[in-house]
Amino acid sequence: ISLKPYNTFGIDVIAKHFVSTTNINDLKHVLSLKEYSRRLILGGGSNILLTKNFDGLVVHIDLKGIEIISEDEDFVYVKANAGENWHQFVLWCISNNFGGVENLSLIPGNVGTAPIQNIGAYGVELKDVFESCEVISLENKELQTFNKAECDFDYRNSIFKQQAKGKFIITSVVFKLTKHSHKLNINYGTIASELDAMQIKNPTIQDISKAVITIRESKLPNPKDIGNSGSFFKNPVISKKHYKKLLENFENIPSYPVNDTEVKVPAGWLIEHAGFKGKCFGNYGVHKKQALVLVNYGGAKGSDILKLSKLIQKTIKRLFDISIEAEVNIL
Ligand code: EPU
Repeated sequence: ISLKPYNTFGIDVIAKHFVSTTNINDLKHVLSLKEYSRRLILGGGSNILLTKNFDGLVVHIDLKGIEIISEDEDFVYVKANAGENWHQFVLWCISNNFGGVENLSLIPGNVGTAPIQNIGAYGVELKDVFESCEVISLENKELQTFNKAECDFDYRNSIFKQQAKGKFIITSVVFKLTKHSHKLNINYGTIASELDAMQIKNPTIQDISKAVITIRESKLPNPKDIGNSGSFFKNPVISKKHYKKLLENFENIPSYPVNDTEVKVPAGWLIEHAGFKGKCFGNYGVHKKQALVLVNYGGAKGSDILKLSKLIQKTIKRLFDISIEAEVNIL
């Protein structure tokens, strides 16, 4: 079958076999089938670039359900199954007045894949609201739990992209959300000015969600209209020494603090100043409002987008002596 509806880049590759699983028992059964040992686990398909047909079994994780598992004075613990759409989950939290995920509104993808790359936006990361997740081991098909420390979260990174890569499938996630004393994050980027424009003085989580949605819609392409995977690259971390040297030639290069010796530089700025922003190569290219996003205008091949990403990496290396790393998984 075509995987086009199952990846937000909208790449049309063929999978030899495909199964969608809606409960744990089916999933365990599918994983135990010896004849389908070549597998690709697919969640929301929002962080993957498919560059060729897949000769094995695609296992689509479609476990649904959201429930409150416990609560105390200040916090509520909510379990969401892996196949829930991330933004729908955020909206559910917001309508119940549970705080913590409002800055993460409108991020494409599913709940179960969110921990893998520790999704983040507007000053909040998934790890800030993460309590634990349940996974199924591909080795013994048993369920086990990872608590927050065990996940080793970092910027767009976790154990599931490192040592545990390819060894587990996340089946559900438990979030720790606030019930009333919401600690609001409005200092990042243009959230505060967006709230001003909305004439809001004392924002609620609902207001913040709305502001984030407005900002995202103004610069990020909706995968329903233009195929994309969000940020294609991670923002690179470089030494302060390297940064100082770059300032001699590029005086406006932005940076964010990381630690005493390093800073983070927005890859979008580097790509824009390398001349790629808005560049169109037939049916694919670099988004015109956010250079960190590569786009498929319809019918593009994953291998073409991969080639473009390599050209961008090479150019950034040559111009700025910075290696930028892909954020999306390439298959
Ligand atoms: N910039 C440019 N040109 C561009 C894009 C960005 O010069 O075309 C510079 C500007 O200086 C801008 C700065 O980069 O002020 C930051 O841009 P933006 O606020 O759009 O954020 P980003 O660093 O490009 C990161 C995340 C996004 C997340 C936003 C907001 C990564 C890889 N990306 O992007 O996450 O939404 O911050 O928090 O860290 C994603 O991961 O898919 C994603 C969209």
